[in-house]
Amino acid sequence: MTPVPLNPSDPKALLEAVLRANEGTADPRLKTVLAAAIRHLHAFALEVELQPDELQAGLDFLVAVGKATGPRKHEGILLADILGLATLVQLRGARHAVEAGGTEPALVGPFWRAGQPERANGARIASEDTPGPRLTVTGRVTDLAGAPIAGARVETWQASPKGLYENQDPAQADMNLRGRFTTDGDGRFGFVSVRPAGYPVPTDGPCGALLAAQGRHTMRPAHLHFIVAAEGFKVLATQFFDAEDPHAFDDVVFGAVGSLLRRFEPDGEGGFRLHVDLKLERGATRLPHCPLP
Ligand code: BEZ
Ligand code: FE
Repeated sequence: MTPVPLNPSDPKALLEAVLRANEGTADPRLKTVLAAAIRHLHAFALEVELQPDELQAGLDFLVAVGKATGPRKHEGILLADILGLATLVQLRGARHAVEAGGTEPALVGPFWRAGQPERANGARIASEDTPGPRLTVTGRVTDLAGAPIAGARVETWQASPKGLYENQDPAQADMNLRGRFTTDGDGRFGFVSVRPAGYPVPTDGPCGALLAAQGRHTMRPAHLHFIVAAEGFKVLATQFFDAEDPHAFDDVVFGAVGSLLRRFEPDGEGGFRLHVDLKLERGATRLPHCPLP
């Protein structure tokens, strides 16, 4: 075929040329994803009549996200979270399991740490000097029909009553308010903690500037994170939220879906109780990428 010069004033011809250039992508899934990304990016630029300085500003923003990412902080995860993309992808991927009664997922976020300490069921995850009311957590891991899953690995992490994760707070011991548990023969696990507080997402990087430009608040409602993994089941990453938090219906990262709101019940001794049921779908998926060492 005789090559035809590209007509630069014809956006359709340009898009077709870029899509043709993608045709050689060997990995079929990558080819599909790239083609859709190219189509949507071109449509986006046309819709807003994107100007060269605006394109440059957008690229500079992405560079700043990369520069703000390192072993202590993952700004890229934060970006996907504040745009609702992480929540969309997770809820979409789990919709069949949720329709069948599975626990709704919630984003992992940037604060999960590798090597969280293995603890015995019933152990404290809060060091004795952590202030705040006690929270006794019990949980049960089952399949979608309610049959217990023994030997499941349950990871949990949470912010303190001051709204800080231990790695953000020099006043807390290493790995405070974090733990890894194994379910017993009846699928149960449990631990003693303190009632978490809501907190602002990190705003010291470009995502903070974006939230400010949008005139948005920065708060997450108080919550506890869980990641559950068991042989023969898909990994579940989720969170349970304090239904009484002022931001329970207004999470800056859109993770607090209704089915995950819980009342922390008074235990009659000044503390609170929380029970969580974690229902897993059969199958196999890998643990998500762990953002922090
Ligand atoms: C978190 O829940 O740890 C989190 C999620 C998204 C952004 C920041 C923090
Ligand atoms: Fe969190």
